[in-house]
Amino acid sequence: MKSYTYVEKSGKNFKPTATAQEVSFAKKDIYAKADKNRIAFWEDLAKEGIDWIEPWENGKAYQQKGNSFAWFKGGKLNLCYNAVDRHLNKPEKSAIVFVPELMHEKKIVISYKELFKMVNNAAAMLKYNGVKKGDVVSIYLPMIPETLAFMLACVRIGAIHGVVFSAFSPDALRTRIKDAGAKVLITSDIYYRRGKKESLKKKANKATRGLRIKKIIIPRAKVGKFLNQDHFNYIQPEVMDAEDLAFILYTSGTTGKPKGVMHTTGGYAVSTYWSAKYIFNMQEGETIWCTADIGWVTGHTYACYGPLLNGATTVLFEGMLDYPTPARYLQIINDNDVSIFYTAPTALRLFAQHGNKYPNKYKLNSLKILGSVGEPIDEKTWLWYYTNIGKKRCPVIDTYWQTETGTIVICSPPGIGPFIPSYAGKAFPGIDYEIADEKGKKLPLEKKGLLVQVPPFSPSLIRGVWGDPKRYKTYFIGKYYLAGDNAFKDAQGNIRILGRSDDVIKVAGHRLSTAEMENAIEGLLGVVEAAVVSKSDALRGKVPIAFVKSRWPMKEEKIVGIVNKKIGPIAKPAKVYFVKDLPKTRSGKIMRRVLKALLANEDPGNIMTLVNPESVKDIGEMLKSPPSPPKK
Ligand code: WTA
Repeated sequence: MKSYTYVEKSGKNFKPTATAQEVSFAKKDIYAKADKNRIAFWEDLAKEGIDWIEPWENGKAYQQKGNSFAWFKGGKLNLCYNAVDRHLNKPEKSAIVFVPELMHEKKIVISYKELFKMVNNAAAMLKYNGVKKGDVVSIYLPMIPETLAFMLACVRIGAIHGVVFSAFSPDALRTRIKDAGAKVLITSDIYYRRGKKESLKKKANKATRGLRIKKIIIPRAKVGKFLNQDHFNYIQPEVMDAEDLAFILYTSGTTGKPKGVMHTTGGYAVSTYWSAKYIFNMQEGETIWCTADIGWVTGHTYACYGPLLNGATTVLFEGMLDYPTPARYLQIINDNDVSIFYTAPTALRLFAQHGNKYPNKYKLNSLKILGSVGEPIDEKTWLWYYTNIGKKRCPVIDTYWQTETGTIVICSPPGIGPFIPSYAGKAFPGIDYEIADEKGKKLPLEKKGLLVQVPPFSPSLIRGVWGDPKRYKTYFIGKYYLAGDNAFKDAQGNIRILGRSDDVIKVAGHRLSTAEMENAIEGLLGVVEAAVVSKSDALRGKVPIAFVKSRWPMKEEKIVGIVNKKIGPIAKPAKVYFVKDLPKTRSGKIMRRVLKALLANEDPGNIMTLVNPESVKDIGEMLKSPPSPPKK
């Protein structure tokens, strides 16, 4: 297979080669074009990229009143039609390649024609179960083709999907089903994880105990065949307004309750289509493997909608990237001619542990573009990725975005660059990000501060928090959308993301709320209070550490166990410290900042304003020589 060289060194950084500039969809002049009139820019993209049933009203592509805004309102379309039906002129091209975890199971290739059938049959099944436009359907499924088919079926009939990460615990699933008011839950009997059968059905049954909800259960043994039977029920795509909801996706915020981020049809379709095209050069014939689970926004946008809207092929892998050998991911890239590989720094750090031993065995000539997402990528990992997987031919595109933005909002497109290790790059054309202070005042270049988006807001930005309009308001600081991240911008407009500015932590790329973990721990009998903070970890980026004040001696496992039960294994604290007292301000606020500093062995700063400064000394000493947890 012919290999492409997309990138070359330029001083300390990297820039696109002439080939990359030529074959990439986004050309250098695009920023200037977009800046002339951002609304007109998006309007042109919307017309070119998406099939509309009816256009939006002339001159009203963007409307905003306070924090509420709308894109393409009045325009009519169907997201599923755009992702599936419109590719039926080339029915045999591959839409999905499903790679099972078990080595002896064969991969399943699903063409657009077959996907069309699966989606229609799934839509018929939903209708049969009473699902109507505007109803919420919860999806609790592993990475199988049926997951995508049911998501697409929902948007086909105007139902709102709410996918819940399959590693979440029954308690976490229950909370989300209840908050969303879901009518139907779609799950599977089992899936494979590190070669072992995991029962999803059992967890789903536990989660739905006593709830009035219908269930559709997909047998793992029928993957690829469950919806692809002989019968075929055509279901007409529902005519949706651009501002009708497409889906909700729960994510962690700074309070204990997860929030259902609301995404609408038109803006999401337009941003998804174009971000996939401009950032990954997605088109027919390209194969993307986005390793994110479908339960996260990355899976939604770049494993499902982005590739399918562009008529590309998406690889779905059921299992763990390093199972059964550390070379599994390389084998999958190799065997499926993957051209775009999109993963998280935490996975890369895992791969890099083995140095170049495994990557050196593979040429990986099919690769063109590498992506990174979910947390800041450090320079060392970036260079490892570039050298060993990209073979110094492919750019590493660090992509910054959030569940709330729906699509990538900051990055360096492959034909434009520059690719600077540890910098995410510029705001996507047509989108504007600035750095502001705590009062919402714009800061000059090179100053660290809060990352904010400037209106007109991006088409796929969050439209609301499901059932909680008050919480939606907390996203805005003055006229800006507040991302919740610290960042700075250099003189060229390249943005470097410095990590969260709030109590959200990214553990192995998974977004978790410390408040949610604290709630779980504080629910235990005997716990007085708890504070969870993050600590840097060589592999997982950050890990949660719990400080617990309890009425009587407790075992660490009990604390870890309750977090596992209430949220899931991903949130388990890496360490629990039982403390006499937690550092607090006079108004009773726990000083997590102080705990974080102590864990990092840094100066905790001024502690004299605390009501109990002695607690800091106690904890500091304890961290130096942690006592073993008391035995019962
Ligand atoms: C972090 C994931 C640095 C950030 C798509 C953001 C990043 C949060 C990057 C959203 C990146 C994501 N560099 N940090 N390239 N990408 N983040 O909602 O803190 O799961 O606010 O969406 O991940 O996480 P979420």
